[in-house]
Amino acid sequence: MPNATHPFDALMDITARPKTVFVRGEGAYLWDAAGKRYLDFIQGWAVNCLGHSPPALAEAISAQAKTLITPSPAYYNDMSLKLAKALVDNSCFDQVFFANSGAEANEGAIKLARKYGSLRKNGAFEIITFEGAFHGRTLATMSASGKKAFEPLFEPKVPGFRKARLNDLASVEALISDNTVAVMIEPIQGEAGVWPATDQFLKELRALTQQHGLLLIFDEIQTGMGRTGKLFHYENAEIEPDVMTLGKGIGGGVPLAALLASEAASCFEHGDQGGTFNGNSLMCAAGLAVLGDVSKPAFLKAAADAGLFLEGELQKLSARHGLGEVRGRGLLLALDLKLPIGAAIVAQALDAGLLLNSPQPDALRFMPALNVSREEILEMIHALDAILAKVGAARRVA
Ligand SMILES: Cc1ncc(COP(=O)(O)O)c(C=O)c1O
Repeated sequence: MPNATHPFDALMDITARPKTVFVRGEGAYLWDAAGKRYLDFIQGWAVNCLGHSPPALAEAISAQAKTLITPSPAYYNDMSLKLAKALVDNSCFDQVFFANSGAEANEGAIKLARKYGSLRKNGAFEIITFEGAFHGRTLATMSASGKKAFEPLFEPKVPGFRKARLNDLASVEALISDNTVAVMIEPIQGEAGVWPATDQFLKELRALTQQHGLLLIFDEIQTGMGRTGKLFHYENAEIEPDVMTLGKGIGGGVPLAALLASEAASCFEHGDQGGTFNGNSLMCAAGLAVLGDVSKPAFLKAAADAGLFLEGELQKLSARHGLGEVRGRGLLLALDLKLPIGAAIVAQALDAGLLLNSPQPDALRFMPALNVSREEILEMIHALDAILAKVGAARRVA
């Protein structure tokens, strides 16, 4: 149905979208152009970690916009220096490069690894990645991804990526050669349906990469910034990677991403990396406001508790409707539906004023704001309960 106030046809049609047009957001809720309210358990795709338009973030952006937006990447600015220092102080890394999207941060990680290989490992350039992983939509990050649907697209692929299997150390070991420089992992495969690497596998991967002198790159674009109950997911496995990428939550809804590296891995030389908007004052002010909240121990504890509460409620729901497992960590969870009914549930939820995501036909993914309340979780559970009851009844009739 065309929309007279907001015609759709000037935008490239790059994905199937419902005809709903959102015009306002606040906390856990969004409103469409017709004034209908939606409870949002997608939150910009795990992006709005403080919910929609949080006052602290809106104020930081508005104050910075009136002070300095960007002096140009050829000069330092106070906000990028402060944010880099805060990230370094809160992590195991020593240096930061800011980017504008997760894919760009990962592209930077790939370049950094290749640079490391050319300087320190006789030109080694291959990076071992994993089947099922998603690292972005640039040519190199699509090539690094292990998403089946990407395989026939935009040939030829960027060479130098070899795919191992998640939680199968022997499959990684078998791919290591003199050409290998790094292993890059998405520690919980979100787009694939929320499939976690076990803490044990991550520990063994760290030991294996150290033994072979390989860089270990963590793509924490979805898992970072408190999503799994710690500020960074690597803390759950009690290991320290050499390189990490952040995106999504780091800007709380605005385009900001980061590439972090240990001193030993931080080997870019002048001219290797850059970008017009990278580390601009406006986005870094947003990042500082977000990190200020998310890095507080009480905030992280509340997010971890909310994750456990959501997990428990999803397990009860699953038992009531004869569904499968609940997997994931913190506030990145999936419910196994056992049947390919994800799209139907998402469509009915939209009608009922609830935004849900189905990354795979047989799974629902939950990625609410990290400050989601128990009342909001229960509101989602009740709405989903009613939808599952209807879908179940329809299945019994059919
Ligand atoms: C693990 C992971 N890596 C990379 C990306 C790409 O980030 P962006 O869409 O900001 O380029 C995503 C986005 O969904 C992601 O989940």
